[in-house]
Amino acid sequence: MTRLEAACEVHRFEGHGAMPHDELVARIAGKHALVSLITDVIDRPVIEAGTALRVIANVAVGCNNIDIVSARERGVIVTNTPDVLTDATADFTLALILAVTRRLSEGERMLRRGDWKGWAFDQLLGMQLRGRQLGVIGFGRIGRAVAARASAFGMAIAHTSRFGQGMPLDRLLSTSDIVSLHVPLTPETHHLIGQAELARMKRSAYLVNTTRGPVVDETALALALRNRLIAGAALDVYENEPEVHSDLLSLDNVVLAPHLGSATTETRTAMADLAASNVIAVLSGESPLTRVL
Ligand code: NAP
Ligand code: GLV
Repeated sequence: MTRLEAACEVHRFEGHGAMPHDELVARIAGKHALVSLITDVIDRPVIEAGTALRVIANVAVGCNNIDIVSARERGVIVTNTPDVLTDATADFTLALILAVTRRLSEGERMLRRGDWKGWAFDQLLGMQLRGRQLGVIGFGRIGRAVAARASAFGMAIAHTSRFGQGMPLDRLLSTSDIVSLHVPLTPETHHLIGQAELARMKRSAYLVNTTRGPVVDETALALALRNRLIAGAALDVYENEPEVHSDLLSLDNVVLAPHLGSATTETRTAMADLAASNVIAVLSGESPLTRVL
């Protein structure tokens, strides 16, 4: 905010959460830049109302909240915050992988309920990572960073690739012990993991989603978990945030986090700083640092 205020006149939304859509449409007229969060829906009506708009700076790497096609048609530059959040999100993915395979949330719930009767030899046995296969779907910045961390735990890595030499999705699903999702949400990746894909996974396997909720058909996932078609899931993102499918809330073999992937002080500061740099660059007539193509 300090850097933006030094460079331009800043109008901020003082309310809680996202600005109501109609208020955004009303207030965008005459503004040259928009700094948005993933909870802000920047669709065609917003972009068309922003007649003076030159840049939309999303404070996130994922841009599925923005109608990129409309922005491009109107000559509005869209920027995001890649790289600065890769480590935090990959760290958090490993936290979820460890939590679900070592039954951490299940154990903590048992203890807090007062049901822990003391150490027992066969209590809450989980799955060790060494020697297991991690299947990474979306081998980009975060997917590769997750793979590097998992390799340090002794895991073998398989990954998909649209253009390179990755493993076909079907084979990755049927051979992996943990499947971790890192593709962006696009029309092609919507419900990439549904009933058929879950059925292909090993019954002993885990699904981890830290990318975007709609990449997984949440109803199909809840059914697969309830019927033990897979061993468990760890989720940071949901189809209709902040709602969570009621079955997922009641199942013990799921770890649920409230979209915390990039949530460290260092990372969120770097994301905000990068978004500010992008706005300042465009308004100064320079190229933005991280333009979404
Ligand atoms: P990235 O570097 O662009 O990697 C995504 C990879 O997905 C690409 O390298 C691409 O690999 C693959 N892909 C498959 N289908 C695709 C499609 N239709 N369009 C584009 N790529 C496709 O992105 P990233 O920085 O790793 O971020 C990945 C996602 O993580 C973001 O989009 C965001 O949704 C999510 N995220 C979540 C959090 C959180 O808080 N939970 C935090 C940060 C990011 P191939 O070309 O090899 O197929
Ligand atoms: C967070 O979810 C991001 O895409 O940066």
